Amino acid sequence: MLARSPLLRTTIPRYTSTLRHFSTTKPNMVKILAVLYTAGKYGEEQPRLLGTVENKLGIADWLKEQGHEFVVTADKDTPDSEFRKHVKDAEIVITTPFHPAYLTAEVLESAKNLKCCITAGVGSDHVDLDVANKRNISVYEVTGSNVVSVAEHVVMTILVLVRNFVPANRQYLEGGWNVAEVARQSYDLEGKVVGTLGSGRIGSRVLQRLKPFDCAKLTYYDYQRNEQLEKDTGAQRVEDLKQFLGELDVLTINCPLYEGTKGLINAEKLSWMKKGAWIVNTARGAIVNAADIRAALESGHIAGYGGDVTDRQPPEPSHDFYHMKSAVKYEHGVGGNAMTPHISGTSIDAQARYAAGVKEILTNYFGGKAQLPANVIVEGGAYATKAYGQRK
Ligand code: NAI
Repeated sequence: MLARSPLLRTTIPRYTSTLRHFSTTKPNMVKILAVLYTAGKYGEEQPRLLGTVENKLGIADWLKEQGHEFVVTADKDTPDSEFRKHVKDAEIVITTPFHPAYLTAEVLESAKNLKCCITAGVGSDHVDLDVANKRNISVYEVTGSNVVSVAEHVVMTILVLVRNFVPANRQYLEGGWNVAEVARQSYDLEGKVVGTLGSGRIGSRVLQRLKPFDCAKLTYYDYQRNEQLEKDTGAQRVEDLKQFLGELDVLTINCPLYEGTKGLINAEKLSWMKKGAWIVNTARGAIVNAADIRAALESGHIAGYGGDVTDRQPPEPSHDFYHMKSAVKYEHGVGGNAMTPHISGTSIDAQARYAAGVKEILTNYFGGKAQLPANVIVEGGAYATKAYGQRK
């Protein structure tokens, strides 16, 4: 049966697979629910698309051999979705930021048996972490699994915007050849000021990769000082957000989404930025106010915005990010919009790493072993990570 969410532009097969083996009555057998994105025909064409409903993180047979019940679905957005049905009695839920199943307070309330949430990837904001803490539900993620993948995407997107690649490519593919139309908005990255909001694994890798570009200055804003980054790249820490934003030609956003960063980059913060700056956000869509970004782009206050995340995924067809375009007009298409679907952290290489990481977390869980400290977001009713805000 096919279901069509009103939010979705394309039809996502309501495909759920349940693998049961032996009896599920053995006391140590658990129900595991995974919500992944659908690969359709591409899953067969590319079996290394592991993080999909079809390829099941490569762990289906392994779980089956142990007698566990493994339910995999992409159907997540409606109250009668497979996700909402199966979360009620699952002990472990595996989700992915690329097609997030939102474990809100309401959903967690219905999940009476839930003990463990695993993020296949990095970024666990789709889980209400405060409620998870209250309920003593552990949240783990495969920390570091896709940070290089994202950093590469960020560097690419910065160049795509600064060099004005998108309208140039559109013009060319449509048979055009008008150098001036594109060149009037095309710059060098050399000599520009680039700063990262958040200087953890991804932010620091972005600045490391930008070092050979001879930028005028690399800066970062983070409540945690990163001395290694300063040493490696010469990046300067700026402690005042207004000063940080005010100096930048390029802002790259690389912090988690939580109550302290939700809507952080709004009309007021954008007004602190220089006219003509570029913004790249591969962190989370809700860190910026999408309507304010669109207004700043269309007024010409910012020259470009790119990234791969939106506040709801998939976004509704009317979402500002689908429609925003720069104040500078192009005959063959739009400028200033370097958005993609959520792909930066789900390269084939990244999928191999986060699939292996999920298996390792499950192995530890089944064996009663401690998880790698870096993978622990919340456990035992408290935040283990220092990345989701300064907490007591
Ligand atoms: P990380 O935990 O290594 O670093 C995050 C940094 O952000 C920390 O240094 C933390 O102190 C800082 N931070 C937190 N709140 C801040 C604030 N208010 N202002 C400034 N800095 C703040 O995390 P990592 O691996 O670098 O990932 C960062 C985020 O990127 C993830 O939480 C996730 O949301 C996103 N991500 C996106 C992916 C994609 O495919 N688009 C894939 C992987 C991660």
